[in-house]
Order: sequence, then C-alpha cells, then structure tokens
Amino acid sequence: MQKKIDEIEKSIDEAVKDVQSSKTLQEIKMRFLGKTGEISALMKNMRDVPPEQRPSMGKLLNALRQWSEEKFAVIEQRLKEFELKKKYSDEKIDVTLPGRVAPDGALHPNTLIRNELISIFAGMGFEVFEGPEIENDYYNFTALNTPADHPARDMQDTFYLSKDLLLRTQTSAGQIRVMENKKPPIKILSPGKVYRSDDDATHSPMFSQMEGLVVDKGITLCDLKGMLDEFARKIFGEDVKTRLRPSYFPFTEPSVEVDVSCFECGGKGCRLCKGTGWIEVLGAGMVNRRVLEGCGIDPDEYTGFAFGMGIERIAMLKFGINNMKLLFEGDTRFLKQFKS
Ligand code: PHE
Repeated sequence: MQKKIDEIEKSIDEAVKDVQSSKTLQEIKMRFLGKTGEISALMKNMRDVPPEQRPSMGKLLNALRQWSEEKFAVIEQRLKEFELKKKYSDEKIDVTLPGRVAPDGALHPNTLIRNELISIFAGMGFEVFEGPEIENDYYNFTALNTPADHPARDMQDTFYLSKDLLLRTQTSAGQIRVMENKKPPIKILSPGKVYRSDDDATHSPMFSQMEGLVVDKGITLCDLKGMLDEFARKIFGEDVKTRLRPSYFPFTEPSVEVDVSCFECGGKGCRLCKGTGWIEVLGAGMVNRRVLEGCGIDPDEYTGFAFGMGIERIAMLKFGINNMKLLFEGDTRFLKQFKS
C-alpha cells in the first residue's frame, strides 16, 4: 500500500509540474480526487482490506488525500492570482487615447430649406398646420373649385388610390381643412409631401411643398406682394425683388406666378435665370370667393391670399443643384456638403 501511495504522490507531482491554467489543474485534480479518481478508487478498495489493517491503512489514505488536496489548493491559488493579473493587464484601458469619432450627419438640403422657410414665416406670425398625404377628391380638388369635369385637373397627373382617395397633388388641400375648422383671422403655413405622376431632372413623383394661407378682413393683393418681398429678401438676399405675373389656379382669383430677380447675376441675365434676369419661384393669388363660401366663410366680409412653392425647387436654386434626383438618392458624398 505504501508503495501505491508513493506512486500516486509521484504522479501527482509529475502532473502538476508544468500546469499552466486552473482549468488543466482542475482536470488533474479530478483524475486523482474525483469520484472515479485514483485516490477515490483506493478508498473504495478499503472494503476488501482485512479489518485489523483498516485503521492504519485508513490513516495513510487520509494523509494522502489531505496532502494532495493541500497541494492542489496551493497551486490553484497561485494560478488564479496569475490569471487575474493577466486578465487585468489584457483588459487594461488607456483612457488617455483619443476616442473614435463617429461620423456625424448633416441636415438634408430639403430640411434646411423647410426649416428656414418655417422660421421666416413664423417670424411673420404664421402657424404650422400639416394635413394628410392621402386625401379624398373633395379636399384636393372639388373644394378647391376644381370639380370633376374641370380642365384644370389635367394640370396635375394624379395618383389615385381608389375612385375617391388619392395621394394629394398639392398642399392646397390643407387650406380647406384649416378653413373648415377655424374662423378668420387665419394665418397658416403648411409644409408637406405631395405626389404627381411626373419624373425628369426638375420633377419627381414625390416632392415637397410649402403652402401659406392668410384670411382676414381687408386682405389685399398688396399684402401678398409685401409679404413676398420680405420673404424673397430673407431667403435669397437683401437686394432681391419680386414681380407678379398673371396666371391661373382654380382656387385663386386673381392668380399670379411670382418671380424673384436673379440673385446670381443681379438681374443682368445669366445661366441660372436663362438670360431673363428673373426666376419663377411660386404660385399664389387671392383666395377664390367660391372656396371661401364652400368653407362657410363670408367672402363679402373676409378676403385672403394663398401661396404655394416647391421646397426642392427653392433648395435647387439656393444651393445650385442642377438635378432633382440628387435630393432623393441619399448619396452621402452629396449630402455631407451641407454640413454646417
Ligand atoms: N397648389 C398650387 C400648385 O401646386 C400652388 C398654389 C398654391 C397656387 C396656393 C396658388 C395658391 O401648383
């Protein structure tokens, strides 16, 4: 028995000599002290030992177990300390290193212009109203003095969702929603997406408009002109002037097309203004009596003006963008140029 014990002590010493990790140590420990380990096997064999030898043998075996347990414990302690130190040094963070900078985004040119327009008009007392993008025929056309057989319906190629529902072709639909719910004085600004079956370098099937509506006692075309002058100076520059040209929209009478003097050449004529010195920026007019009446507003007591502009168009003019597609592709090489 003593021989067997010496052998086991020797093989334990041998086994732990080069042990590097507490995991391997654990395996070695199991080999000797585990349920089916070598020392445990010897303990089990005690059953076969004659009773008179059992006490002395038991002593020897217990001593062996204790000796090996202590040995394993000491090595385990050492390995654990070593492993902890290694973990700390591996995971060490140098807080003095410069951080990784996440690329920051920029506001989309459309958003920049929309925000600028809202801030200009908010400064004149306009409130923002946003109508739905899915409209019915009534709000988009009929209530805007454009009944079913009206030729002006052909001015816009409409995406119909059903016989009655459509994707709004103009934010003017919001005018009706506002006037139905609010009595004058009314001064609203209505930004939003609109949809038309149209697609080329300066047209997109989805684009954004900014609508304005003012209704009160004694509002005249002069008020419209004065407000547009102020708007043009703020957005395109102090020296910019506006001019009104007669036009036609079913829901305004009279209707005008609004040009601004070319902010690129100062009106002398250049590529941007195609040599004319003027750039068309929006449609406007005095709210048609029939539209006011339809919303329950007495046109003999109240008058108003409305205007609508394409936000992409303003962005293209202001930033010198020559293809509208650039505004919809989300190409970061284009967009990052607008970082402020
Ligand atoms: N809704 C018109 C368009 O989309 C623009 C407009 C708005 C004209 C308000 C007059 C008054 O072309």
